[in-house]
Amino acid sequence: MNPLRFSTLVLAGGKGTRMKSALPKVLHKACGRTLLAHVLETAREAGASRHVVVVGVGRDEVKAELASLSFATEDVWQEQQKGTGHAALTALPAFGGSVSLVVILNGDGPLLRAETLRAFVENHSKKKADLSLGVMELEIPFGYGRIVKKGGKPSAIVEEKEASEKEKKIKTVNGGLYAVSAKLLLQLLPRLQASKRTGEIYLTDIVALAAKAKKKLEAFPISSAELGGVNDLLQLAEAEAVLRRRRIEQWLKDGVRIEAPEAFWPDGNVICEPGAVLGPNVVLKGSTKIASGSVIEAGCVLIDSVVESGAVVKAYSHLEGAVVKGGAQIGPFARLRPGAAIGEEARIGNFVEVKKSVIGKGSKANHLSYIGDAEVGEGVNIGCGFVACNYDGVNKHKTTIEDGAFIGSNVNTVAPVTVGKDAYVATGSTVTRNVPDGALAVGRAKQENKEGYADRLRSRMQAAKKAKGKV
Ligand code: UD1
Ligand code: CA
Repeated sequence: MNPLRFSTLVLAGGKGTRMKSALPKVLHKACGRTLLAHVLETAREAGASRHVVVVGVGRDEVKAELASLSFATEDVWQEQQKGTGHAALTALPAFGGSVSLVVILNGDGPLLRAETLRAFVENHSKKKADLSLGVMELEIPFGYGRIVKKGGKPSAIVEEKEASEKEKKIKTVNGGLYAVSAKLLLQLLPRLQASKRTGEIYLTDIVALAAKAKKKLEAFPISSAELGGVNDLLQLAEAEAVLRRRRIEQWLKDGVRIEAPEAFWPDGNVICEPGAVLGPNVVLKGSTKIASGSVIEAGCVLIDSVVESGAVVKAYSHLEGAVVKGGAQIGPFARLRPGAAIGEEARIGNFVEVKKSVIGKGSKANHLSYIGDAEVGEGVNIGCGFVACNYDGVNKHKTTIEDGAFIGSNVNTVAPVTVGKDAYVATGSTVTRNVPDGALAVGRAKQENKEGYADRLRSRMQAAKKAKGKV
């Protein structure tokens, strides 16, 4: 079959008043991806050759979002938001005199699947339609444009605000998805009139115009789980739940063990390999990647982090911009900040914070420590309560702990400083100078015992208290 060629026109200029938010509606995120990115990604996957986006409210922010996508888009500025028909009209010059097929999509419909969009376009071409509409059946059609039919074919779309009581009962509604040739758009759009009630120019009025011009109209039914639009935060939450559920079902089918599918939050761009185990209340965000054979226990949050095969991230750990190599163990209650690279078989235990540091193979920091701007070699043991003092109030400095070194408990190293290979730092030391390979560093006051002193001190204090009471 010949590949179908079509361009997309995405309407993304509106305010989104009902969101009650300063952020332009199409920039709200569902599962870590903006509504606009969802729509465009679907169009790209379905094979659209061009993407023209109408931008209006929040133009610069929306353009920045477009620029951040991995594929090219074109934007058209709708300076004043006079309705969806006006938005499409504004974009018309972008299609020039081309005879190509244009698929118009609302920018606030993140649920449409690429295969459905493709089937919609194929149906349009197979039926040799002039204008196709993606429609859905809704028990409660409130808010949507109702599809009025004549002889089984659409003859008009009536918006909620314009609908008669009878029309309001129609349960077949417009999903904000249209396929139409650029040529027909050129004929119809300039003829649209603003609504007397709202002053808006409705794109949906092209249906009545096309029907009057005896054009061939097709309604293509699509499930409401794919066509639902996002107009307020409730619908955003509902759309997000659908996207999340889809992702979870796919992973479960692929062989990812998700222990509590009802309480698991994966974002759109996360990759999880079959054979990984994910506990309850795990949140995975950004470009996180979880390899096969790794375990992420309950309550962990992972942002832009990579967990390699066989690693275990124990309960309630927080990872951001971190890499955990195979066989390493993190947590419970560990915090890995950007630039933390934990080596194979290494262990980062409870209440240990690691920032911008490399921890070598098999090294351990199991309790209550801060490791920042450090390079820790292989087979190093860091005791409880270690602090790499990396900041002098102006600059950050580097700490180096070489292979096989042993750092006792409650040690501070004041950077820049190096603890040499196989060196030993005594518990309670503050290390301010480099420690040579194999040396023992003791950096603390020498202990002195004063025999009987505690007893004498106590009787002196008690006598003083008594004397004071008599006065
Ligand atoms: C629209 C349809 C309605 C349909 C519903 C499906 C119209 C008149 N109505 O209603 O029939 O059932 O979608 O979800 O089209 N936009 C602009 N410029 C504007 C106005 C809007 O670019 O001047 C963009 C918005 O950013 C949004 C899209 O067009 O992405 C749809 O606008 P919205 O106000 O959400 O339309 P609905 O009331 O949902
Ligand atoms: Ca909408």
